[in-house]
Amino acid sequence: MNVYDAARMTDMLAPLGYAPTGDAAEADLVVLNTCHIREKAAEKVFSDLGRLRLIKDERSKNGKRTVVAVAGCVAQAQGEKLIERAPVVDVVVGPQVYHRLPEMLARIERQAGRAIDTSFPEIPKFDYLPAPTTAGPSAFLSIQEGCDKFCAYCVVPYTRGAEYSRPVADIVSEARGLVDQGAREITLLGQNVNAYHGEDEGGRASSLGRLLERLAAIDGLERLRYTTSHPRDVDDSLVEAHRDIPALMPLVHLPVQSGSDRMLSAMNRGHTRAEYLATIDRLRSARDDMAFASDFIVGHPGETEEDFQDTLSLVDAVGFVHSYAFKFSPRPGTPAAALPDSVTAEEKSDRLSRLLKHLAAVQSEQNHRMIGRVVPVLLDRPGRQDGQLLGRSPWMQPVHLRAPDARMGDMITVRITAAGPLSLSGTPFTAPDIEALRHSA
Ligand code: 5AD
Ligand code: SF4
Repeated sequence: MNVYDAARMTDMLAPLGYAPTGDAAEADLVVLNTCHIREKAAEKVFSDLGRLRLIKDERSKNGKRTVVAVAGCVAQAQGEKLIERAPVVDVVVGPQVYHRLPEMLARIERQAGRAIDTSFPEIPKFDYLPAPTTAGPSAFLSIQEGCDKFCAYCVVPYTRGAEYSRPVADIVSEARGLVDQGAREITLLGQNVNAYHGEDEGGRASSLGRLLERLAAIDGLERLRYTTSHPRDVDDSLVEAHRDIPALMPLVHLPVQSGSDRMLSAMNRGHTRAEYLATIDRLRSARDDMAFASDFIVGHPGETEEDFQDTLSLVDAVGFVHSYAFKFSPRPGTPAAALPDSVTAEEKSDRLSRLLKHLAAVQSEQNHRMIGRVVPVLLDRPGRQDGQLLGRSPWMQPVHLRAPDARMGDMITVRITAAGPLSLSGTPFTAPDIEALRHSA
């Protein structure tokens, strides 16, 4: 979502004459778009600000002004305190009000003062943002923001605010614009994307499943994805969407966090291990090639070795194709941060490395199962080696290949020839291949 937000800020600032630069020393304005989800991410902002202070001083010696803005969830959480700790900052702007950046910049231009806005506006920012001006083959589209779930460890409900869903018509129009600019795949974004309940044209609340149906009708839009989902919000319309919409990719990122009922309850996740597995089964019944990705937290207050073993066994039960795993990080203002941190730093590190090893083995096994299969690949990046292209399988696995006639943005049919721990390799499936298949059939 921060990638999406950063692109929208760039779009907002373009009419004021700002254009992106890769070199901070050249920048009249630097916007740090920040993340507060774990301490490590939040602390990174302050080391970046330290570096920016040197650049700002250097530029000032040459008579050049540099405005430093901090946007995103660290801005939201810290507000004024951010400037106290890092006086290099001129602008603090929260994730729900970055559409106000132009007026905030104009204000400090006039008065050379500082500007802080971390409010949650009545009218959502989306009503003010211009249509996206660029899109690659794979584009993001934010449809839902905020969260009302209040998991015990999580800062999101406090930084992104209450759940909000954009109206269907706005989303369809933004998606059409992205496709007109070359997007062939759109990933719908939301902190709780499947809690989506935006208003449709008839004034009724739509579900994510219904919205996906609408988007699938857009000509030229070949792939749809959505992230991140909550296990409690997988309704029948979403399962039906997976059954009925070929463009909807068969990979669901469905964070479980822990495989232990005791921990799921302590985390206030609102579901049990068995309910999670039942949800996985419902989704698998829609499409037999359905795959899953997840997020995990190890060392949440109260987690025992037995709880952790339950997490390892859940990984085996599902066979995730990809996952993220983190050590519990106490976040200010969350209920879990007030609990005694019962797991030692060594235990946390040990559990994280054991879990990562386990996840990597399962992922590698899933990748190896792909060898010999013929799959569509959307080419979206140049590879590291000369002449190499990189694309994604329907299950988001990176696929390396050489295809002299293919270009970025092409969807090509590929035979998978090799698998590594993180990615696949393949060769384009050619017309003679198809001919050979026909003869062997
Ligand atoms: N500590 C560690 N990981 C966290 N996450 C969210 N809050 C915390 C925390 N306090 C992880 C969860 C979530 C992902 C986005 O970040 O796994 O799904
Ligand atoms: Fe955070 Fe996700 Fe829980 Fe919401 S559902 S509180 S975003 S972990």
